[in-house]
Amino acid sequence: MSWTRHLRPQLAELTAYDVPPADPSCARMHANECAEPWPDEVMNAVADAVRRVELGRYPDTSGRRLRALLGARMGCDPARIVLGNGSDEIISTLLTALSGSDGRLVVPTPTFVMYRHSATVIGMPITEVPLGADFELDDEAMRVALQSAALCFLARPNNPTGNLWDAGVIERWFADFEDTVFVIDEAYTDYAPGASMWRPDLPENVVLMSTLSKVGGAALRLGYCVGSPSLAAELDKVRHPYNISATSLAIAEVLLVQADAARNAMLERSRASRSRLCDLLASLPNTSVFPSNSNLVLARLTPANRAPALVAHLHSQGILIKDVSRTPGLEGCVRASVGTGAELDRFEAALRTFSRST
Ligand SMILES: Cc1ncc(COP(=O)(O)O)c(C=O)c1O
Repeated sequence: MSWTRHLRPQLAELTAYDVPPADPSCARMHANECAEPWPDEVMNAVADAVRRVELGRYPDTSGRRLRALLGARMGCDPARIVLGNGSDEIISTLLTALSGSDGRLVVPTPTFVMYRHSATVIGMPITEVPLGADFELDDEAMRVALQSAALCFLARPNNPTGNLWDAGVIERWFADFEDTVFVIDEAYTDYAPGASMWRPDLPENVVLMSTLSKVGGAALRLGYCVGSPSLAAELDKVRHPYNISATSLAIAEVLLVQADAARNAMLERSRASRSRLCDLLASLPNTSVFPSNSNLVLARLTPANRAPALVAHLHSQGILIKDVSRTPGLEGCVRASVGTGAELDRFEAALRTFSRST
C-alpha cells in the first residue's frame, strides 16, 4: 500500500511540462517569447509601479482595474473578461468548467500541447483531428469530431505550425455546433495584423483567449479570455481568487496604458526579423520553410534525422531552438522563435557551419 494508489491513473501517461533553465549567454529561440527588450522609459515606469505595490495586501480578487482597461480597449463589458495566470490557467479553468457532460475536447493537431495535457489531467476525453496538407484545417473531419464536442481549442495562428486557419471555415462551425464552446486562442495574433477574429458580438458559444506572454510580458504570467457574461461568471466560480499577483497587475497596467508605441515598434522589428529567420532557414539545403503568421517559424529538413542534428549543432553554438520532429505530422521539423538582430547574426554564422558539416 502506498499513497500512489490515490493518484489519478492518467497521470502515469504524462510528463511534467518542463523547460530546463537556459544559460544566460544562450540565444533563446526555443520558447516563442518576444525577444525584443522594452525601452528604458517603459522599464522605469514599470519600476515605479512595482515600488507602489503594497506587498502586505492581497491584490484585487479578479483584477478589476486591468479588466476595465482591457474592456475599454476591446469595446466590451469587463464582466465578460476573466484573467488567468497565463492563458495556461484559462485553458485549465475552461476545461474544468466544461467537463460536466460526456462531451469531448476536440483539437486539430499538431497544436499547443497544453490543451491535451490539461484535459488528460482532469480525465476529459479528447479527439485529435490531424491537420491537412500545409497544416490547414480538415473541415470534413472536424465536423465529424465536433458532433460530440463540449469544447474546441483553435490556436490562430497555430503553434507549432505558425499558420493562420481560414476564419470563414471556423465561423461556420460556431453556428452549426451551437452546443460546443469554441476557444479562439489568439496568443500570437499581434504577429498577424488584422487577423483577429475578435468582435464584441461574438456568438454566445465563442470565447476569445489571449495573453501578454508573446508581446513582451511572458514573465508576468498574464492571460485573459473574453466570453459571454454567463460563461465568464461560471469560469469565475472555478478560478482561484487573487490568481494574478499585485505586481503582475501593476506592470500589466503600465504596459497597456503607456507602452503602445514601444510595443508596436518591438512587433515591427520582430516581424522584420521573422522574414530574415525564414530566409536563413530556407538557405539550408533540402529544407522547406512553412509560411508564418506568428513569432515562430517551422522548417522541415530531409532526411528527417537532420532535424535533431541541427538542434544539437545550434545548441553547441549557444543557440536554442526546438526539435519537434517526434511530433506526429512533424517528422524532420524544427521550430525556431524569432530572435533579435544580434541573435540572428549568431544563428546565421552557426547555420553556415552546419551546412558545411551535413
Ligand atoms: C497557442 C498558445 N496558447 C497559449 C500559450 C500559453 O501562453 P501563456 O504564457 O499565457 O500561458 C502558448 C504558449 O506557448 C501557446 O503557444
